[in-house]
Amino acid sequence: MKTILILNGPNLNLLGTREPGVYGAQTLDDVEKICLDEGTKLGLSIDFRQSNHEGQLIDWIHEAGRECAAGNMLGVVFNAGAYTHTSIALHDAIKGANVPVIELHISNVHAREAFRHHSWISPVARGVMAGFGVQGYALAIAGLKLLVDPA
Ligand code: DQA
Repeated sequence: MKTILILNGPNLNLLGTREPGVYGAQTLDDVEKICLDEGTKLGLSIDFRQSNHEGQLIDWIHEAGRECAAGNMLGVVFNAGAYTHTSIALHDAIKGANVPVIELHISNVHAREAFRHHSWISPVARGVMAGFGVQGYALAIAGLKLLVDPA
């Protein structure tokens, strides 16, 4: 069974209490359950992680690149949080690790502040998902499978 890695960046551990008007009332544990259910539906194993640290996220992207090269992993669904808008290092990590990434945002970042309109992840992502709330994670998992393993 192939794996999809779900990576969550800074402040996503606060889901449920963080700006519920923007991000909803569901917690990161609820999001993990949504992902696990979608994995079961599609016959995929789900590896779900969160970190507030840029370097940790980079190390996990590198690990995903090795797992993809070994044929064990399809790719990554990545909500990089605010690092989306700041991190050339994450851009370079995705490029360097040669890993298929779906960029994900719970909110529609393009309908928000101007500083959220630019993404360093989008130019190196296979697809982008934004504005579907936490159900976007399930849609992104299905979308990644369609892109890299359509059979
Ligand atoms: C976010 C949007 C980002 O702009 C923000 O910094 C986040 C969450 C989202 O899921 O909508 O932390 O990635």
